[in-house]
Formats: sequence, C-alpha cells, structure tokens
Amino acid sequence: MTVVVAHISDLHLGAHHEDAVDGLLVDVAAARPALTVVTGDSTMRARTAEFRQVRELLDRLTGPVLAVTGNHDLPLFSARRVFDPYSRYRSWIDDDLDPVVSIPGLTALGLQSMPRWRWKNGRVTGDQAALVTRVLGGAPPGDVRLLALHHPPLATGTARILGRRRLLGAARAAGVDLVLAGHTHVPDVRIAERSRPVFVVAGTATSRRVRGTSRSWSLITVDTGAVVVRERYFGPSGWHTGRVVTLPRGSVQGGLQSDQGDAERARDQRGDDSLRRGEAPAHTHPPAGHAEQDRGADQ
Ligand SMILES: [Fe+2]
Repeated sequence: MTVVVAHISDLHLGAHHEDAVDGLLVDVAAARPALTVVTGDSTMRARTAEFRQVRELLDRLTGPVLAVTGNHDLPLFSARRVFDPYSRYRSWIDDDLDPVVSIPGLTALGLQSMPRWRWKNGRVTGDQAALVTRVLGGAPPGDVRLLALHHPPLATGTARILGRRRLLGAARAAGVDLVLAGHTHVPDVRIAERSRPVFVVAGTATSRRVRGTSRSWSLITVDTGAVVVRERYFGPSGWHTGRVVTLPRGSVQGGLQSDQGDAERARDQRGDDSLRRGEAPAHTHPPAGHAEQDRGADQ
C-alpha cells in the first residue's frame, strides 16, 4: 500500500504572498494526498484575523489534516501568552494540541512543542513521549507511523529542543517511520542513524520569510519498501519538483539518492550549497540542524 502525505509548514499568514495560497492549494490537491500535515507557524502573530485565514485555507484542502502549533501561533507580547496562550489556536485550528489521525495504512500523531515560557525554541514533555509510545507504538502492524511537531528534533546548539532524548527514544521504540517538522524555513531530509525514522523539514509554503530558498512544500510517498521525498518549489513558471530523496523504508542501506534532472531545475531556486547537500550520501549531511544557522533569526 502506498501512502501519500503533503507536508506544508510555516505559512505565516499575515506575512504571506497574497497570491500564494491559491497556487499552493492547487499544487497540493494535484498530489491527492491521503493526509496533509501542517507543522506550525501557520500565523504570523497569532492574531484572530490570521487564524481565520488559516481556517479558510485548511477548509479548502481535500482530505484529512493534521496540524500542530508553532512559536508564531502563540501571542508574543500579551497577557494572553501567560494565561491562555493556545486559546485562539484551539478555537480556530484544533482543540486537540496533540492530535491523532488514523486512516487506512497510516497512523499520525502531532505534538504541541511550543511552551509559553520559551521564546521560540521547543520542548517535548515526558507525557508527550509516552503518547508517542502509546499511539504510534500501538499502531496497526504495517501502518506508516508519522510524528509531526514544529521544532526539528535533530537541531543542535541553542535550537536543540528540550526533551530531545526522550522523544527520539520513544520514536525509535515505537517504530516511527517519519518525523515531520518546520521552523527553519529551509527544506531538509535526513536520518539520525542507520535506521528509521526519516526526518523531513518542510520550508515555508506561502510566506515572504524565505531563507536562501524559494517557497516550498514536501510531497512524501511511503510504501512497504521506500520513503520518497519530493521537494516542491515555487519558481517563475509555478510549482516544480526540486530535490528528490529516496530512502529504503526502515534503513539507509541505499543512501540518499537525488534526481539530478529535478535537482538541475531547482538550482536557480535553491543555490549550489543546498544542491550539494541533496547529492551527498546520508553520512555527509551537515550534522547540525538548519535551525542553528538561523540562530539569531525570528523564525
Ligand atoms: Fe516560521
């Protein structure tokens, strides 16, 4: 059974290209995903009007959606951040901050990784790690097991999430296939060691806050033997496939493989440095999370 997932992130509605939403929705719909995963920062400043725009966008997606909070989805300078930081998100997006979606062949869990007391970096609690074990570890045999959160779990330095060790331990024990994140606005695919899961970071799909790459989202296909990540970029002629990364499901024996033709088309959009990353074998990927290189930025 093949499962198709659309991974979009960091919409930052309120700081987005006005014409970006319609085109994104058309491109995502063409992929006919079984699930669309939205890994946070859907708004720019957690304003009601921005959440309303997010709701309208989500309602236009076909099929089920799993969404999580990002740091921008909490009020920044407001008493609401202290006393009721998730109320607007819960009203407009999802009352469940750690949502579960189960569809044939796929079990997905989202985690709320943005505490009110941190500035922008994330944390995962012991209860959330236990949720990973219970929900994803208890998924039907053969299901794709997908975990989503805003903060990339492999980020290092000051961007390292609190609770990283327990999260990664729980993900390994639960047989998680995919960990999807956002936050950096730079698309990425990597593995932590010579086993699952595959870690995917989606870029920013609609916002003006790009970081050396154009707007993008990630189309992920999983079957019994492989995980394929196609990075979709927005260019002068519309959306196109850039880097394609193929990994055997559950191991990295074959290493990362890029579609050179698609990569060539992406060169103008992404720059040589990111292209070299795509062509490198798994063990030569940069060891540090991209979040670290944007350490000073307001992501
Ligand atoms: Fe962001």
